[in-house]
Amino acid sequence: MAHPNGFIDLRSDTVTLPTPAMRRAMAEAEVGDDQYGEDPTVNRLEALTAERLGKEAACYVSSGTMGNLIAILTHCGRGDEVILGDESHIFWYESGGAATLGGLPFNKLRTDRFGMLDPREVADAIRAPRPGYPRTGVVCLENTHNRCGGAVLRPEQLRQIADVAHERGVPVHVDGARIFNAAAALGLPVAEVVAPVDSVQFCFSKGLAAPVGSIVVGSRDFIQGVRANRKLVGGAMRQAGVIAAAAIVSLTEMTERLPEDHARARRLAEGLAQIDGIHVDLETTQSNIVIFRPAADRITSEEFIAGMAEDGVKISNYGLRGLRMVTHYQITDEDVEKALGTARSLMEGAAVPVAAAVAK
Ligand SMILES: Cc1ncc(COP(=O)(O)O)c(C=O)c1O
Repeated sequence: MAHPNGFIDLRSDTVTLPTPAMRRAMAEAEVGDDQYGEDPTVNRLEALTAERLGKEAACYVSSGTMGNLIAILTHCGRGDEVILGDESHIFWYESGGAATLGGLPFNKLRTDRFGMLDPREVADAIRAPRPGYPRTGVVCLENTHNRCGGAVLRPEQLRQIADVAHERGVPVHVDGARIFNAAAALGLPVAEVVAPVDSVQFCFSKGLAAPVGSIVVGSRDFIQGVRANRKLVGGAMRQAGVIAAAAIVSLTEMTERLPEDHARARRLAEGLAQIDGIHVDLETTQSNIVIFRPAADRITSEEFIAGMAEDGVKISNYGLRGLRMVTHYQITDEDVEKALGTARSLMEGAAVPVAAAVAK
């Protein structure tokens, strides 16, 4: 495939460009004022999404970060505590929005290798009503899990967390930025994956290739609150049908092909694992994300990234967790082989530490 950026871009699936079908749909979209509820394309997107996810209603928003923020604001009252994983996107990369804008402190729990929280730790973290304790407002999960290498939570795992939360009257929100990747990896309808939880945010602008937008789904009452909070943070839109039209194409044309991205990520992970000096957790590589670590005593992350970029392959840095490659519809089998070839040459060129060489 010709690369629109001029290089093989494995940094993220957010780099995907709108498909020709999306551009046509955008040009032809019927629009109206969405704040009066009069944009027919937005209304259609919201209805289609709610039906597909098996929830009562949906609200279209401009980004995943906004979707998570306003879902959390809607579940919580000021001062409530948000339980979430210490490796979650909401904690790491969303500006602490719920805490800074909502006055909602975070209670971080340990995330296991597969992106799961321990239900016993969740049960223990949910606050009893007692002076001095904040009220627990919501428990957040992430599926697929970005920092855990795209690991997928099964519906029964969501159910385990939902059971302990619901028993104490606490709702569960899923940051499902890549929920269709989770459904594809599990081979299940997406509605089945999210059935145990109260709300979900997912992104059209990642592997589903739309240029903009995410959506929040949940009960009718909850979504009414989400709409109010979308307005509060300045996210209510007008003729948003122009972008929602592309999101409809995401839903109708882009979900079925996600297994292709997963197969390419698998090939990447297995190829990397065969390179001397690279470590990959093959067990957690379950969707379109590959996190791996080149041996730090042979090459630094910065050197590895620069070496790949010099050969026309861009990847991203996840600090101590390692380096990340993400497959998406602009990445072909040839791109994967090229990335592996470059990684192999880089490691072959990186000196083996003297002590290790002697030991051999
Ligand atoms: C797991 C996860 N949640 C939320 C988001 C936020 O989405 P956005 O970049 O649209 O704000 C991302 C973005 O990469 C993500 O990976």
